Amino acid sequence: MAQVSTEIQTHEHDVIVIGAGGAGLRAAIEASATGASVGLICKSLLGKAHTVMAEGGMAAAMANVDDRDSWKVHFADTMRGGQYVNNWRMAELHAQEAPDRVRELEAWGAVFDRTKDGKILQRNFGGHRYPRLAHVGDRTGLEMIRTLQDHGIHQGIQVYMEHTVTSLLKDGDRVAGAFGYDRERGYPRIFRAGAVVLATGGIGRAYKITSNSWEYTGDGHSLAYQAGADLMDMEFVQFHPTGMVWPPSVRGILVTEGVRGEGGVLRNSNGKRFMFDDIPENYRAQTADNPEEGWRYTQGDKSARRPPELLTRDHVARCIMREVRDGRGSPHGGVFLDIAWIKDKLPNAREHIKKKLPSMYHQFMQLAELDITTEPMEVGPTTHYVMGGVRVDGDTQMSTVPGLFAAGEVAAGLHGANRLGGNSLSDLLVFGKRAGESAAKFAKERTGGQIRADQVEAAQRTLLAPFERGAAGASPEGPYKVQYELQDLMQANVGIVRNEKDMMTALEGIEILKRRAEKVGVGGNREYNPGWHTALDLPNLLTCSEAVARSAIERRESRGGHFREDFEKKDENFAKFNIICRRGPDGRMQIQRRPIADMRDDLKQIIEENK
Ligand code: FUM
Repeated sequence: MAQVSTEIQTHEHDVIVIGAGGAGLRAAIEASATGASVGLICKSLLGKAHTVMAEGGMAAAMANVDDRDSWKVHFADTMRGGQYVNNWRMAELHAQEAPDRVRELEAWGAVFDRTKDGKILQRNFGGHRYPRLAHVGDRTGLEMIRTLQDHGIHQGIQVYMEHTVTSLLKDGDRVAGAFGYDRERGYPRIFRAGAVVLATGGIGRAYKITSNSWEYTGDGHSLAYQAGADLMDMEFVQFHPTGMVWPPSVRGILVTEGVRGEGGVLRNSNGKRFMFDDIPENYRAQTADNPEEGWRYTQGDKSARRPPELLTRDHVARCIMREVRDGRGSPHGGVFLDIAWIKDKLPNAREHIKKKLPSMYHQFMQLAELDITTEPMEVGPTTHYVMGGVRVDGDTQMSTVPGLFAAGEVAAGLHGANRLGGNSLSDLLVFGKRAGESAAKFAKERTGGQIRADQVEAAQRTLLAPFERGAAGASPEGPYKVQYELQDLMQANVGIVRNEKDMMTALEGIEILKRRAEKVGVGGNREYNPGWHTALDLPNLLTCSEAVARSAIERRESRGGHFREDFEKKDENFAKFNIICRRGPDGRMQIQRRPIADMRDDLKQIIEENK
């Protein structure tokens, strides 16, 4: 059952892409379009990806609804949202290329909502100056996946569903492939490739309350780190302000920002719109100071300013936490999000809400027995996204390990300290395409690396170790308790509001959990064994959690998604560098400060003009 075998099926491709959400699919399509043979590996079934949780739309300065929009304003908004620690080259490319990527998706079959004159409709979202989110109701991510999936399959990409990669294989400095197993039979697999693209998404499962499903255990972050790549900006975790809070079984599931984009408002238990109480200085000029103006903005009045509910996510999440902490929360520890109130404004409000927010309507009806067209929702922050990830070159998406590329959430840089809603879907398209193109080029220009038997053997031993430890007679600890304790630890100590003492507690806890994780054992056989799969996910979760905690301790200021109550202010010295995590020669995590490259003058000017 747990025998180490020397005969392992090997799959060979020019490029393998690990992860089949928006970034992975887009990378695979682009690599394949150059004539490369592409293998696309996904942990679960094709189409099941966190991309679908980006519901409200993809940000692209198409100027269909407001002709004042341009890539320059989008660039300036992204940099301001990221509090200027973004990779500015990525922010530039993203803003310039996003409109073409959206049009291309449409040409491949995505059916967007329309303006009256037939253009792609765009809606308001937090931190975006103009209505910029091209959308399909509140199912934009789903439509994106559906379209890319159809396109990719017809292009002849080979898909390996329900396969998990546990380590990258290297030949000298460069990457030569990956090792993993198929979840159905539990057989080990080798993927030999000229280049590897990581597109594994985020680390949400390191936290107790999250919008991420079971797959998001930081696999790509950890694979890259173990292979010697740099992780960057790991202190910046995004807590989306609105997740479901009730009933407990659905806590954390996303409630799209699109609700607020369509006029939804946040209230505390006194019925007060508390977001008016705390408008940051740098957004004051653009933010409405009365409900009527905010409503007019959501209805497309160009002379109106945005409602404070559409401030950036980090800020809205902290305001919600404050209301709950000070005893003004909803019965189940959140606040109220009300879209039903628009019945005072629109005669056909019920139909309007069902048309604009169909998934939200069904989600609350089916999971909470609540009709959002007549009652307010209860919502609270949920771990949604990590801005940190693999440090990559902005143009090619290659990491510091030759032949290893990363795109989408697993890559760092574009979003800086805080991602604007809707920028993730356009990120996946823009940088998925770039990564696929560069990976195919890299593979084509070189002969592939060799797979080394000693690395395969070591990977196979690690793969089967949980069974060895769980062999008859032994009674080791199981993996779930370790996972739950880690999630509690991270939620309590490295969450929305942080301080040094709590984060040190987290680090000590992570060290203890690491030792326990090395000893967990499982029984049963290899076929669809979720305990075994969880035991193998644990080291990834622990590596990512350590990276978040260590980076957050190092950044002794508050910026974007990283808020420290012991250093409440921004410190301009910390605007000068990113924090890097690297595996040291002794196997321990090292932290370094990496200076941010000087921004080009033309881009500086764009920021100045858009202040
Ligand atoms: O709220 C949302 O629809 C999420 C969008 C995103 O994370 O980009």
